Amino acid sequence: MTKPNLLSGMQPSAGSLHLGNYLGALVNWAAMQDSYNAFYCIVDLHAITVPQDPSELRANTRRTAAQYLAAGIDSDKSALFVQSHVPAHAQLAWVLQCITGMGEAGRMTQFKDKTQKNGQESASVGLFTYPILQAADILLYQPKAVPVGEDQRQHLELTRDLAMRFNSRFGDTFVIPEAHILKETAKIYDLQVPEAKMSKSAADPKGLINLMDENNVITKKIKSAVTDTEGSVRFDRESKPGVSNLLGIFSLISGETIPALEARFEGQGYGALKGELADALVAHIEPIRNRANELLTDPAELDRLLAEGADRANELAEQTLAKVYERIGFVRAAR
Ligand code: TYM
Repeated sequence: MTKPNLLSGMQPSAGSLHLGNYLGALVNWAAMQDSYNAFYCIVDLHAITVPQDPSELRANTRRTAAQYLAAGIDSDKSALFVQSHVPAHAQLAWVLQCITGMGEAGRMTQFKDKTQKNGQESASVGLFTYPILQAADILLYQPKAVPVGEDQRQHLELTRDLAMRFNSRFGDTFVIPEAHILKETAKIYDLQVPEAKMSKSAADPKGLINLMDENNVITKKIKSAVTDTEGSVRFDRESKPGVSNLLGIFSLISGETIPALEARFEGQGYGALKGELADALVAHIEPIRNRANELLTDPAELDRLLAEGADRANELAEQTLAKVYERIGFVRAAR
């Protein structure tokens, strides 16, 4: 039986992925690659919707690839590729932009969030149409599942709407994809502002644990995580967001349930919880960081793996795009 397809992606907009990217998405990606025909993309076209330094973007793209591999993406099983290596992403995005309403695009909350600080006037048009490019990323690969964190839910809904609209106007073309969002990992919170999601754009770098952070940095960040004055290790997202986030992360890293952790730390202060969590995180992240750094010593080999992934991705993406062009009435170029 052929396996169903799957696609997901991350932006290479920082030197390191953070614990939200890792627990919210990457861990699931690694787990799903045996039962799906998986495509994992590094979305450099999306990254330039906000200004990027060219040499940093190039370095961060390879660093992201190295972290995918170090965290368990197997390039024999899954196609690991860079979005700009597959021209069909930008081509399908254009077609989808032409069936998206301005109002519909304007309702995307991430655009509103990202432009809140500096206002919409100074934002790029690319940032506005970002979710439509994301829909193209997904629909090209006819995936059944798209493993992401909670913050991507609205973009997945738009993707489904656009796929259904295209299918009903032009005939069945796209598989309607499902968001694959796991409840426990859907949202990892900032260590300094535990009401907000952990994010690359956090005001304070102490709020996020990065996969490429050195051990002493990880320990320091966990020890300075914001908690509360109650002193008891108890999960209560509403009134104890900081402690609850630490317990959630601990549970995901150790495989222990939250009640088991609450029982273990009963009668002990937050210092004990933070100390053990820091040790567990260091033990978990250190091998991933070391492996990523090792892979980065051979950029030619990384580029070769990415080129191989792009060949696999291009094959399917070109097929889907050809179908789309045919359906909307473009004349095929005579050869
Ligand atoms: P990006 O690069 O912001 O994040 C990559 C993945 O990490 C998840 N994530 C989180 N999960 C839990 N808690 C958090 N604090 C947290 N922060 C990030 C995200 O949900 C995502 O799964 N628009 C996408 C990139 C993209 C994409 C795609 C994703 C472009 N094309 C096609 C899926 C399919 C984004 O900005 O992800």
